[in-house]
Amino acid sequence: MARAQSRFVCQSCGAEFLRWEGQCRSCNEWNTLVETVITVRSQERRRALPVAGSITPVPLSAATEGAVARLPTGMRELDRVLGGGIVPGSLLLIGGEPGVGKSTLLLQVAGGVAAAHGGVLYATGEESAGQLRLRAARLGLGGGPAADAVAVLATSEVGAIIEAARQARPALVVVDSIQTMTVEELDGPAGSVGQVRESALRLMELAKGEGIAVVLVGHVTKDGSIAGPRTLEHLVDAVIELGGERGGVMRLLRASKNRFGSTDELGVFEMGESGLREVADPGRAFLAEHDGAAPGSVVAAAMEGSRPLLVEVQALVAPAGYGTPARRASGIDPTRLALLLAVLGRRAGVGLGSHDVYANLTGGLTVAEPGLDLAVALALASSMRDRPVDRGTVAVGEVGLLGELRPVSGLDRRLREAARLGFFRAIVPEGRRGAVAVEGIRVVPVANLRDAVRAALTGGDPPGELAPVMVEAETRVVG
Ligand SMILES: Nc1ncnc2c1ncn2[C@@H]1O[C@H](COP(=O)(O)OP(=O)(O)O)[C@@H](O)[C@H]1O
Ligand SMILES: [Mg+2]
Ligand SMILES: [Zn+2]
Repeated sequence: MARAQSRFVCQSCGAEFLRWEGQCRSCNEWNTLVETVITVRSQERRRALPVAGSITPVPLSAATEGAVARLPTGMRELDRVLGGGIVPGSLLLIGGEPGVGKSTLLLQVAGGVAAAHGGVLYATGEESAGQLRLRAARLGLGGGPAADAVAVLATSEVGAIIEAARQARPALVVVDSIQTMTVEELDGPAGSVGQVRESALRLMELAKGEGIAVVLVGHVTKDGSIAGPRTLEHLVDAVIELGGERGGVMRLLRASKNRFGSTDELGVFEMGESGLREVADPGRAFLAEHDGAAPGSVVAAAMEGSRPLLVEVQALVAPAGYGTPARRASGIDPTRLALLLAVLGRRAGVGLGSHDVYANLTGGLTVAEPGLDLAVALALASSMRDRPVDRGTVAVGEVGLLGELRPVSGLDRRLREAARLGFFRAIVPEGRRGAVAVEGIRVVPVANLRDAVRAALTGGDPPGELAPVMVEAETRVVG
């Protein structure tokens, strides 16, 4: 029989200590150490873990990693984010706030994988088998061969899941959620760091040892981290985050870690009565629905991974009362916003030092891409001057500290997408290699932010050195 030992495990970072201390020496959090019983057997097992795979070294030339056959999930947006489907034997973590749709997504994935590859084990510690059946019916997976190939196990015992998986040998195991799972030998409650970590370790053994893909669901806490230990994120092969605006229908899927693909692809879904639906036209999904131009609104032609995405930046600028002016950014990096405010003031004659500033992207999207700079700066200037930017205009460009505009990658792809969605004018950085030409779009190249503000806010009647470019373009339209 295994001998029990007691350790003090930090609930914030997962570090282990022999004695209780008020502050964790590893992450400096206070009062996070909790006594956890760890059996010697589980530690010995863990030490033996590396043996699970092959222990014979192979020549590099014989290591055929690139040839793995992936399991398509039946949801193309998810497959894109994963890099082409789920890799057999991998351990994935899908995180998101409660209610965002993690269980919905994974039940649909279970149906999709079962339809094409057979054999999925859906283990849930959150719902009863009956509740899961009702949900499946609502998602349209009620009957048929796919539903027969999804085995449901309502349990919170990791041992039971591993036992069932070793017998049934499914292609995919879903564990919903890792915070409800417990390992018999540990006596901490479900959701404690000790339980979460040990459960995940054993499920990793299952994945690597048996070549079965395992997907863990993880609830995300208010501060945005996956509840439980950070160590979980280091353990898994990929971390996929499902997010979206509270109360909205749009759902975004993004990898924050991916051993088998890139982390900059974005998946876009809509939540409906019958589950998550892929958005047919993601390029349009983040444009707010209002007609007519309003001061403070500028559309950017951004890139998300390999996909051009049009997003609307909204800014509101108002004289500040007493104290430090407010700076609020949502979907935009606040440091980037601060930099753009400084450049606007010093280099473009739009001083906002004594104004409250609010800037956000519509649709709950977050974009960290330099090409967004120009649209943010123009939205701020537009709100400050209370002049709208003409409808049908998009802006792309990185803003430098001197107020200069820098070219961005994939300009023609961005502008083609803008043209497809009905935009007809683009304010872009002046390129050294000549202008881009995209059918249906009048390109307005500008050298710096000052000229960009002038071009954007004076619409079709620009003064100064921009006039020749514009007039020529106008003449062509009229004539
Ligand atoms: N009966 C229902 N009809 C329509 N939509 C529902 C229904 N039940 C749940 N939903 C939708 O599914 C969401 C919950 O999804 P779920 O997959 O349970 O989230 P999670 O597993 O991330 O906590 C709800 O926020 C709601 O949008
Ligand atoms: Mg759930
Ligand atoms: Zn700690």
